[in-house]
Amino acid sequence: MTRTVYVNGQYLPEDQAKVSIFDRGFLFADGVYEVTSVLDGKLIDFAGHAKRLQRSLDELQMANPVTEEELLEIHRELVRANGIEEGLIYLQITRGAADRDFAYPAAGTQPTIVLFTQAKPGLADAPAAKTGIKVISIEDQRWGRRDIKTVQLLYPSMGKMMAKAAGADDAWMVEDGHVTEGTSNNAYIVKGNTIVTRHLGTEILHGITRAAVLRFAREAQMTVEERPFTVEEAKAADEAFITSASSFVMPVVEMDGAPIGTGTPGHVTARLREIYLDEMRKAAV
Ligand code: PDD
Repeated sequence: MTRTVYVNGQYLPEDQAKVSIFDRGFLFADGVYEVTSVLDGKLIDFAGHAKRLQRSLDELQMANPVTEEELLEIHRELVRANGIEEGLIYLQITRGAADRDFAYPAAGTQPTIVLFTQAKPGLADAPAAKTGIKVISIEDQRWGRRDIKTVQLLYPSMGKMMAKAAGADDAWMVEDGHVTEGTSNNAYIVKGNTIVTRHLGTEILHGITRAAVLRFAREAQMTVEERPFTVEEAKAADEAFITSASSFVMPVVEMDGAPIGTGTPGHVTARLREIYLDEMRKAAV
């Protein structure tokens, strides 16, 4: 079955969807994106992603070509057209096509909007959730506005390749000795009943999964500390995990070749994953 994608108001077979070579997303990474997961054919935390999208656009003074209702309808139509039961929906909005110039083009330039689905059968039952993943620590060499979800993802891609070369699954990025986040996820450690994750700021992406998981953790009477933590603290932690729209809550069992805690997924992580999936399935649209 050919995948149906959405581009600038049209649903098209993927090989017929086109954007201009002058698109500023292509030339300047002048674009923002969101990734929303689909479980049971429904969208997980759509409202959270729509809100963060608007914030990213506002921070870059970029126009939004669709209303939230239209965006929801496009997401649902793509899920329907592609028969997605479990998977991801990728959304990207760029400042549009204009003659190459560093300055933003004149107001009124039509933004480019593209959405496509990725079928991921078994997403919620990923084997890695039972075994855990391995991370390495690398220097965080990204730009300073990581709170804006832009498509300039080259350093995170390099980080993933560094992890692969080291026989690991992902990299945790480190700035001034403190972990910022994973290449495409937020990072957490657990000590006793306390969950530690970096506080919100311009240094990390404000994860939509993060917000929900911290809310559920507090509701379950766990202690949450939002503060920077060091690589040494991570290596001495009882448990560690990551969160994102594509991994939900995923245990981390090794860092830089050394086991974290027992070197197996911990019970706090497992409980949070279970609560997150249960609650979010119930609230899915
Ligand atoms: N990545 N931090 C970074 C740098 C990310 O790229 C992501 C998401 C997150 C987690 O955010 P959320 O919980 O809202 O997914 C944190 C997406 C999944 C991606 O790029 O594929």
